[in-house]
Amino acid sequence: MLEGFNQNVSTFAADVDRAFWITTGISIAMFILVAGLMVLFIVRYHHSRVEPGEIRNIRDHLGLEIAWTVIPTILLFVIFYYGYTSFRDLRTMPGDAFTVDVLGKRWSWTFTYPNGKQTAELYVPVGKNIKLIMGAPDGDVLHSFFVPAFRVKEDVVPGRKTHIWFNATKPGRYDIECAEYCGLSHSKMLSKVEVMQAADFDAWYASDKLSPHDTAAPKSQGEMLYKTLGCVSCHSLDGSIIVGPSFAGLFGKEVTVTTGGKTRRTVVDDAYLERAIRAPGADVAEGFPDGVMPDLSGQIDAEQLKALVTFIKEQNGSGGGAAPETAPHGETAPAATPTPEPAAPKEASAAPDGATLFNTKGCGACHSLDGSKKLGPTLKGLYGSTLTVVTDGKNREVTADEAYLRSSVETPNADIVEGFAPGLMPPFGKMLSAEEIEALVTYMKELK
Ligand code: CUA
Repeated sequence: MLEGFNQNVSTFAADVDRAFWITTGISIAMFILVAGLMVLFIVRYHHSRVEPGEIRNIRDHLGLEIAWTVIPTILLFVIFYYGYTSFRDLRTMPGDAFTVDVLGKRWSWTFTYPNGKQTAELYVPVGKNIKLIMGAPDGDVLHSFFVPAFRVKEDVVPGRKTHIWFNATKPGRYDIECAEYCGLSHSKMLSKVEVMQAADFDAWYASDKLSPHDTAAPKSQGEMLYKTLGCVSCHSLDGSIIVGPSFAGLFGKEVTVTTGGKTRRTVVDDAYLERAIRAPGADVAEGFPDGVMPDLSGQIDAEQLKALVTFIKEQNGSGGGAAPETAPHGETAPAATPTPEPAAPKEASAAPDGATLFNTKGCGACHSLDGSKKLGPTLKGLYGSTLTVVTDGKNREVTADEAYLRSSVETPNADIVEGFAPGLMPPFGKMLSAEEIEALVTYMKELK
C-alpha cells in the first residue's frame, strides 16, 4: 500500500516537501529551545539552590523584548514565504493542461477524458500538465482526492466543481486515496494513477480500449458504460435472464409493466429505456422484482444516458439500424413477450443445480471462486469461516454457517461483510425458489 508516498513524482512535490521540512525544522528547534530552557531553569532555580534575595526582580528588558518580537516575525515570514510560493504553484492552474473530469462518489472514482473515455483508474502521460475537474453527484457526501506521491489533495464536493493540477515526472503507478471520511467504505475508496510514457499514453488514448491493460476493447461509449456501471452483472446480451431483462431484442418489444401498482402494456422505446435507467422503480417489467436495480440518475449525464440507450438499441441483432420502426417489432412481440417465462419452466423441470445457478444468476460477476476479491466476498473457503459483518450499523462476528449463507442470499443487505458496500447485491429471496436457494447454499458449502 501507499505506493509512491515516499517519492516525489510531481514538479512541485519538492517545493511542498521543502515547505514541510522548514516548518518542521523550525518547530523542532523551538521545542528543543523552550523545553531545554524550562529544564535548565527548573534545575538552576530550585529553591534549595537559591538564597532569599539572590534573584533580582527585572521589570523590563528592551533587548530581550526586541529579540523575541523580531526573531519569531522573521521565522513567520520564512514559513510564509515557502508555504505561499509552493501553494501558489499548486493553485495556479496551467492554461495548456490536458483536462480530465473526476467523479468521486461513495465509494469509487471515475475518470472521464476529453474524448469520452471513462476509466476507474487515472492514466496520464509523463511530463505533461494534467488538470482535474472534480465533482460528486448531488446527494453524495464530501470526498477528498489525494495522491501522496504528487503532494496534491483537494476536496470533492457535491454540487460544486473543484480543481487540481499536476505534472508527473516519473512513470509508474501511484495511489489515489479518499482523504475525507465519507462512510462505511471510505477506507476502500482507492484507485491508482498510472503515469505512462507519452507514446504509450497516446497509443492507448487513440485506441478504443478502456484501460491500457485491457485486451478486449469496447466498441462504443454505451458498451463501456454497460461494463463499468455494472449493468453487465444483471442484464445479458444473449437473451438469457440473469437478474433483470436481457437487452437482446428488447428495443421495440411490447412488454407488460407495473406502473404505480397497475399493470399495463407498453412498447420499449427511447423514452421507456431512459426512464428504466433513470427511475427503475417507475415501470417494473412483469416477472422481475422491484427495488433491485440501483437508480443511476446521479451517476450518468444526459449524453451517457443516450449512449446507453443507443447501446441497448444495438442489441436487436440485425435490426439495430431500424431502430425507429416499432411496428415490425410490435408484430413479433406476442411471441417474444413472455421472456421471463421460458426461463421459469426450464428451472422447474430439472432439479436446481447450485453451480448452474451460480453461473446463470450472475453471482460470478461479483463473487470469485478462487479467493480473489471482486465487488463481493469470494466464496472460496467461505463456509465455516468467521466474518465481521455490519448489522444495523453495528459490527459483529459471525460464523458463516448454513443459516448465514441462506440469509446472505435471500436478504444480502441485512448483514454486510466488513469492507464491502451495501445495496449492490439484489435480494435473491425475491427471485429464487426455496429449492434454488438450498442448491446455492449446498454449492457454497462445497467450495473449499
Ligand atoms: Cu470518499 Cu472517503
